[in-house]
Amino acid sequence: MKIGIDKIGFYTPPLYVDMNELAEVRGDDPAKYTVGIGQSQMAVPPLSQDIVSMAANAALQILEEEDKQKIDLVIVGTESGFDASKSAATYVHQLLGIQPGARSMEIKHACYGATAGIQMAKGHIALHPDRKALVIGTDIARYGLATGGEVTQGAGAVAMLISADPRILAFEDEPAYVTHDIMDFWRPVYSPYAMVDGKYSNEQYIAFFQEVWNLYKGKNQRTLADMDAMCFHLPYTKMGKKALSQVLAEADEEKQAELLAAYEASILYNRNVGNIYTGSLYLSFLSLLENSTELAEGDRIGLFSYGSGAVGEFFAGTLVAGYREQLASADYADMFENRRKISVAEYEAIFSHSLPEDGSELAIDGSEDSSAVCLSGINTHKRHYFVK
Ligand code: CAA
Repeated sequence: MKIGIDKIGFYTPPLYVDMNELAEVRGDDPAKYTVGIGQSQMAVPPLSQDIVSMAANAALQILEEEDKQKIDLVIVGTESGFDASKSAATYVHQLLGIQPGARSMEIKHACYGATAGIQMAKGHIALHPDRKALVIGTDIARYGLATGGEVTQGAGAVAMLISADPRILAFEDEPAYVTHDIMDFWRPVYSPYAMVDGKYSNEQYIAFFQEVWNLYKGKNQRTLADMDAMCFHLPYTKMGKKALSQVLAEADEEKQAELLAAYEASILYNRNVGNIYTGSLYLSFLSLLENSTELAEGDRIGLFSYGSGAVGEFFAGTLVAGYREQLASADYADMFENRRKISVAEYEAIFSHSLPEDGSELAIDGSEDSSAVCLSGINTHKRHYFVK
């Protein structure tokens, strides 16, 4: 039985900052941001969007009534959970109207949570092929204003329906994974901002990629020549390119050119959104599917997931016949087109505005946010949402 990704949906908030403008205000050469880091725009969530509303907005792009009746596992992977106890998945389950006989949970492991969710969902579907699982990666990346990591912030969510007989990507081969306890990026529960050893995190990302790539090849008797595209967790678009460059020499020139062309298609969406942590790899996968003109049914896609702290995993799947019919590219063009560019001053004001933490009430004016699901306010430490 084949198990894999049957549907994939993406949501990013309606505001963004231009990276050239951010560089100018920060006194940096814009080429550092747009070429050296490889980011053009950075998504900014207004107060009316949090990880729950973004997750629901992503899932609403793909779910039909039949799916809601068949889903009995809802997993939300996130680094930016706002509650140390209650799971974001319970809100999402309710907002989407999924039938009550479901397991719902939140998984935390930096940017790896959605991949952990997918692998758990795969086991669940293997046992219950008539059911479906919803896995969502949703995050708001926050390093702080005028920090080294600021250029790698972003916000958004990717939702995936995992099922038997999938219509987009059928998982194959044995995944390869590894854990090492390192301090490259972390966020104590008392801090709204990530802590990061930037250069070390880059080195470790590449070291983990090389380790799991070699493990994967050994486990499955594969070579780089077997890959038609490689997708990477993308904290920023230059990062994946650095990792890919480490292994390109394993293939002939024609294959190298093919993989590089696929890589360029796989970064287009991420370049205009920024780091969305758990969803970044899957946003890159979606970008590849929607923007590559070379991909064909049966092509093998490799996926590298990295969660600081750290876990690395490499897994693969093949594109299913008719996968293009499962995509909704026009909708994403509209989503990007309809975003509003904000000034750096406006971004800084939004960034510095947070929800009350003393139990007082705040009603959020979502009139300028046309997203289907918005955070409407908070009262007595409880968040409230509305579905338009
Ligand atoms: N024109 C063109 N390129 C320029 C330039 C210019 N004027 N000025 C600098 N550059 C290039 C540099 O040469 C460099 O490129 P290379 O790495 O290819 O040499 C690039 O721009 C970045 O320059 P710096 O290294 O000087 O930038 P920095 O010191 O400001 O730090 C960073 C960059 C480490 C990524 C920092 O933004 C950061 O800490 N980000 C958060 C951590 C992160 O994203 N880590 C990634 C791996 S960990 C992970 O993947 C998990 C996760 O999601 C967080």
